[in-house]
Amino acid sequence: MLAMAKTSTHYVCQQCGTTSNRWMGRCEACGEWNSLAEEVSSDPTAKGRRTGGGHRIGLVSLSGTTDDATYIATGISEFDRACGGGFVPGSALLIGGDPGIGKSTLLLQVTACLAAHGISCAYITGEEAVGQVRLRADRLGLAEAPIEIAAATNVRDIVTTLDVAEAPQVVVIDSIQTMFFDVLDSAPGTVAQVRSSAQELIRIAKKRGLMMVLVGHVTKEGQIAGPRVLEHMVDTVLYFEGERGHQFRILRTVKNRFGATDEIGVFDMTDRGLREVTNPSALFIGDHDVEQSGTVVFAGIEGTRPLLVEIQALTVGTALGTPRRAVVGWDGARLAMLLAVLEARCGLNLGSQDVFLNIAGGLRIREPAADLAVVTALISSTTGVPVPVRTVVFGEIGLSGEVRPVGQSEIRIKEAAKLGYHRILAPKGSVSGGANATVMEIARLDDLVELLADSGNRGVASKS
Ligand code: TYD
Ligand code: MG
Repeated sequence: MLAMAKTSTHYVCQQCGTTSNRWMGRCEACGEWNSLAEEVSSDPTAKGRRTGGGHRIGLVSLSGTTDDATYIATGISEFDRACGGGFVPGSALLIGGDPGIGKSTLLLQVTACLAAHGISCAYITGEEAVGQVRLRADRLGLAEAPIEIAAATNVRDIVTTLDVAEAPQVVVIDSIQTMFFDVLDSAPGTVAQVRSSAQELIRIAKKRGLMMVLVGHVTKEGQIAGPRVLEHMVDTVLYFEGERGHQFRILRTVKNRFGATDEIGVFDMTDRGLREVTNPSALFIGDHDVEQSGTVVFAGIEGTRPLLVEIQALTVGTALGTPRRAVVGWDGARLAMLLAVLEARCGLNLGSQDVFLNIAGGLRIREPAADLAVVTALISSTTGVPVPVRTVVFGEIGLSGEVRPVGQSEIRIKEAAKLGYHRILAPKGSVSGGANATVMEIARLDDLVELLADSGNRGVASKS
């Protein structure tokens, strides 16, 4: 006798996807409060569901041949760079990012570009009405682009539409959080819905060899299921980042089964859509020839790409018992560490100062190689002595105050020299690569303090 399919209730954290048998106020895995939601599913181990009935699968030898992944270049080179060459038919790509950062704009431009080259594209939105998409296309000057659009949220309908021989080659789903698969009771946006909707969409992409692009919102509150649960399911994950008030946007590769990760594409949000920035270094640095205390140019690397970025620090006497530390675009914990090192190893005490740190242009830096530049900016702001113009700085700082070498120093120095920055403060052993630049090697933080004091003295001397 067949047993009835049992159903079971469990609780899933909407933040990290961890399952638990009982409800808890706080997820034990990720520590998020109020993130558990009830989900009902039929028990796959129930009697009668466990055995038999499957088809034999065909096993093949590993040494066979398969065609290499063929890329469809989108024609927007910053986008292609981030996805490792372009779209791969039969694969799935996730673009995550804060609401309002420009995901829909980017994808409308990408599909328009593809459509102009004869690739059939469908743009399915669950967030807006067809009219709104048309308005945006108008604004972007793409009103005539041969893209097919639809406003839909039911995954079963979408899959049925796509499961035909003449299916479009590229499909955009904007966004996965609005999609709804009717076999589940949970609301759209819950982990269960997001996961099974994505599963269905990816299945049809593989079956029909089409490129599936999923848009996912990441919210800081974690109220909508983060697309993090999707990261294992798709082939490529890109994050679109930037500060809302700034015009720069970075498309960052987080995962790519077909190419390198850590690559970035840089865009500029204008009133007529996103524009590619092919030489980003020139954009993130301000006026080259004005001396300002607290401002330092950092020679960074994003992916394989050198990038000069301006770092600004401001230290002012505090009116509060606990001084403020505010950081935009960098890691607050790392700043705290550097302040401690400055105090312990150089006697520079900022305990009575508010410290503000800002990465210009709304860029977010993750490299520890920025340590030396941050410290230089801090010292310069405290002493009021500007760093000489046309200087770049890079290097990692250890807890004992030593300056440690960082990777790809040659590329950093070359880029700096190319943009007219001929004075380089770098860790010991950084090669100059024959570039037209003077590398000043800094072994310890004390050396830096001394060097900055020196250039300050000389500045005063030349003025008198
Ligand atoms: P959008 O693509 O809707 O963001 P997302 O899909 O990630 O939520 O873009 C939102 C913002 O971009 C919106 O605040 C307006 C701005 N924008 C421009 O500045 N220029 C433009 O040409 C367009 C279309 C949007
Ligand atoms: Mg959108």
